[in-house]
Amino acid sequence: MQLPNLTEARKRTTKEVEHIYLNENYNADTFKGQKYFLRTYGCQMNVHDGEEIAARLESLGFTPTDKLEEANIVILNTCAIRENAHDKLYGFLGRCKHAKKSNKDLIIGICGCMAQEENVVKELMTKHPYVDIVFGTHNIHELQDLILNRNNKQNINVYSCEGEVYENIAYKRDSKIKAWVNIQYGCDKFCTYCIVPYTRGKQRSRKSSEIIKEVEELVKEGYQEVTLLGQNVNAYGKDLKDELNFAGLLKVVSKTNIPRIRFVTSHPWDFTDEMIDVIASYDNIMPYIHLPLQSGSSRILKLMGRRYTKEEYLELFNKIKKAMPNSSVTTDIIVGFPNETEEDFNETLDVVNKCQYDSAFTFIFSPREGTPAAKMKDEVPMATKEERLHKLNELVNSYSLAANKKYVGKTIPVLIEGISEKDSNKVFGYTDTMKLVNISNAQDYIGQIVDVTITDAKSFSLDGEIK
Ligand code: 5AD
Ligand code: SF4
Repeated sequence: MQLPNLTEARKRTTKEVEHIYLNENYNADTFKGQKYFLRTYGCQMNVHDGEEIAARLESLGFTPTDKLEEANIVILNTCAIRENAHDKLYGFLGRCKHAKKSNKDLIIGICGCMAQEENVVKELMTKHPYVDIVFGTHNIHELQDLILNRNNKQNINVYSCEGEVYENIAYKRDSKIKAWVNIQYGCDKFCTYCIVPYTRGKQRSRKSSEIIKEVEELVKEGYQEVTLLGQNVNAYGKDLKDELNFAGLLKVVSKTNIPRIRFVTSHPWDFTDEMIDVIASYDNIMPYIHLPLQSGSSRILKLMGRRYTKEEYLELFNKIKKAMPNSSVTTDIIVGFPNETEEDFNETLDVVNKCQYDSAFTFIFSPREGTPAAKMKDEVPMATKEERLHKLNELVNSYSLAANKKYVGKTIPVLIEGISEKDSNKVFGYTDTMKLVNISNAQDYIGQIVDVTITDAKSFSLDGEIK
């Protein structure tokens, strides 16, 4: 495989890189009048990367469009976490190829986690020559140079620059009310099913001083909420010398007086008592914890490399609920891990019954090439896995509805974010516990935290009104 810019890029120092790649070093007249179409799949990390990509495209003069036919450049920001990601990529490429037939100058770029996968990159190079640029999750800062220096051959730039964290990144944020703030990149956990440590590299934490600077700036701009982002936020700082731990970071972020602080994602392994204490004690740290379970069976958890047992997970869950009885806890669960037995699955249902999650994302195991679990022999038929998923979803949804019903009649603070997509007479917002609320006649309150009385509850949302 050809990696044209690899040696060049590695030779540069971080300082030089910052100088070269800052958006103000580019000319916004370069592509004046031209349009970009950006499609992002996957997690919040990818969504936030999309905000950086948009800012970089705009620094060259591109303006956004949501119509592929109108675009002069198309960027597909991919996700690799499950199999359907591949289907989405190749489905979309078909559309791009077609669009390029009528517009030969169309620039097609592929980035995100799939652009870190060697087999995908090889396939793009050999079978999809109409793709112009491919850049990995570590190369977003080079986007402008890739566009400016592209030639008719594909400009592949996939490499892992372990340990490098770039600062002074400009974002075109999707919202003026709430913002994502990266605190850490990559992941060291290597759960046996997961592709992320391979596509996003080892854990690299940002310095707390840089994080605080960013949050303070957001406070000045009037933001109401930040979500601290990382694959495993609880392990924040462990890869740096003389740095705060996550509990310490939460405390200093709290002092910026941003009205709401959230964080995703937590790994049960690194969740300390100190963290529980901090979340429970500071008013602007939201009582909402996403705590992936993955499986309720200690046997499967061991095969997954999760480093906790069913009992240890439940102990942590109970500690959280004891310290914060009104908190909401959500989770991720995988069914059909190789050779999951009915007994194993029943253990998962047992944990769901005990924890009664506010909501859960549920998945059927998807073998990811290169991960240890993909090599495990698996005798469980897909139909059984689908049945299990269905059963699990029914249980999870019944608890979501029950949890939501407890809100009916209560008056609670909601951060109102915008007009509801389904009904333009309504606005939507979130409670401190991350419940979606649709509210009648409250357009004037967008961007504010207001008391809302909950009038009705569904499995996935609440209805409310301002009294
Ligand atoms: N198969 C199915 N689900 C997966 N997840 C991660 N990797 C896989 C996989 N190979 C799920 C986990 C994780 C969430 C983001 O995606 O539950 O927490
Ligand atoms: Fe996000 Fe994981 Fe998808 Fe990468 S593979 S975009 S980290 S969900």
